[in-house]
Amino acid sequence: MFQQAIRRSGCAISRRWYSSSNKSSAGIAALEVYFPQKYVEQKELEAFDKVGDGKYTKGLGQTRMAFVDTDREDTASMCMTVFHNLLEKYQIDPKEISRLEVGTETPIDKSKSIKSYLMSVVPSAHTDLEGIDNIHACYGGTAAIFNAMYYLEHQRQINPNETKYAVVVCGDISNYKEAAARPSGGAGVVAMLLSSKDAALRVNLATKASHFEHVYDFFKPDPASPFPVVDGHYSNLCYLRSLDKCYQRFKKQSGKNLQDYDYSMFHSPYNKLVQKSLARLVYNDALDAKGVPSYINSSNVDASKLEQLLSVSQENSYSDKEIEKTFGALSTDVYNSKVEQTHLLSKELGNCYTASLYIGLASLVNNQGSNLNDKDLLMFSYGSGLAASMYEINAKENEGRFSLQNMQKVLNLQNRLQQRTKASVDEYASTVDSNVKRYLENNRQSTTGVDHLQKGTYYLKDIDQMWRRKYERK
Ligand SMILES: CC(C)(COP(=O)(O)OP(=O)(O)OC[C@H]1O[C@@H](n2cnc3c(N)ncnc32)[C@H](O)[C@@H]1OP(=O)(O)O)[C@@H](O)C(=O)NCCC(=O)NCCS
Repeated sequence: MFQQAIRRSGCAISRRWYSSSNKSSAGIAALEVYFPQKYVEQKELEAFDKVGDGKYTKGLGQTRMAFVDTDREDTASMCMTVFHNLLEKYQIDPKEISRLEVGTETPIDKSKSIKSYLMSVVPSAHTDLEGIDNIHACYGGTAAIFNAMYYLEHQRQINPNETKYAVVVCGDISNYKEAAARPSGGAGVVAMLLSSKDAALRVNLATKASHFEHVYDFFKPDPASPFPVVDGHYSNLCYLRSLDKCYQRFKKQSGKNLQDYDYSMFHSPYNKLVQKSLARLVYNDALDAKGVPSYINSSNVDASKLEQLLSVSQENSYSDKEIEKTFGALSTDVYNSKVEQTHLLSKELGNCYTASLYIGLASLVNNQGSNLNDKDLLMFSYGSGLAASMYEINAKENEGRFSLQNMQKVLNLQNRLQQRTKASVDEYASTVDSNVKRYLENNRQSTTGVDHLQKGTYYLKDIDQMWRRKYERK
């Protein structure tokens, strides 16, 4: 009743007060990322692939793409690296962690979880550590966060005075067989410490909205292939339709819209789709407002043209280029102020699947640090097949090692990106070919050099006859 009355009043201050009175202080207290040391320039890929100049850089909005040589690194090694680095950089005693969840869609075994590999990073006596892998395309990282949050909430109810910690590790190596999809590959992983209290990035699930469906837009039916089967343009449609559903539900549940958020983050297979997503939120707000939303500063849109665009059926709206163009132009300033800052890593690394949304969060913390204090962030997660959720994060600066300021210092992304090595397109192409050839290979020693790997990186030593993998840490 009370919530409904506030919604009807349409008052932004009342809405903010209602939702903030409902929040817990659990959420993300520390963040670390890991990405491969080699990358290829999208500009050079355009020439190599003989597509038009600008197709990957402007058409998809990507700058560089990280790639992995699986002779030395795989999803398990990358997750061990980022998890171990998180513990060291924030001086976290692993014995304090009581839940460890993983999100991935590129596991290295159909049964044994990546989480089980992470157990080799914690002291051998610390075995009372629940959590396994969450697998559903790019949604696994978000599912892992929700699981960890539900666990922390449960712990808070059992013992409100105790602070409990969980860790979520998520990330992937993204590769496509089809030439058209290859520039939307990438690689990277994220590790996040979640705290039951006083987190600087408070995850608010009270107004979360989700959408699930059975579709075949991207899936991995062939166990002998490292590649997905992807219906690229259909996956874009499924993504945008899920965004609409989640946003409409989220608005109803929270009484808020885009205007109420300082930053907005989206799962990013490639940047252009995120630009379209932001435009789609503005389009949804225009449908509700029956005109240009009040938070759009300047608009030269002709009233009758707008009326005509807003009368297009939802089904036809996704393929309507005029709607895309008009709301793309209307949302440019909002994109620049609320979204661009979240794209440092996604443009440099490419699609990191389950980590994609969370490298966006890391990019924002890296760029803003303490300035994020009291800022509200809108999050949209999508996994093909499909699963999607929208929720919010409220930032509150802390002191000490779990402050936004310290996260910014630890992340240090610009420096770390600069330390990478640029590879030629030929090297990229031959590495991808070798990765495909050795997929499922056993009984082999790794031979590639490890000089280019940073200190603290886990790397593969060998795979024995029973496909058991041995790793070392540099
Ligand atoms: C996304 C994907 C379908 C694009 O492949 P494609 O069909 O070869 O690309 P398109 O011809 O549609 O071109 C992509 C964009 O670049 C633009 N473009 C093409 N050539 C261009 C050029 N020379 N300069 C500038 N832009 C160019 C196109 O106009 C198009 O823009 P639009 O999306 O605004 O219409 C493909 O990369 C893919 O399948 N990716 C994996 C799936 C995925 O990421 N799905 C997302 C949901 S999870």
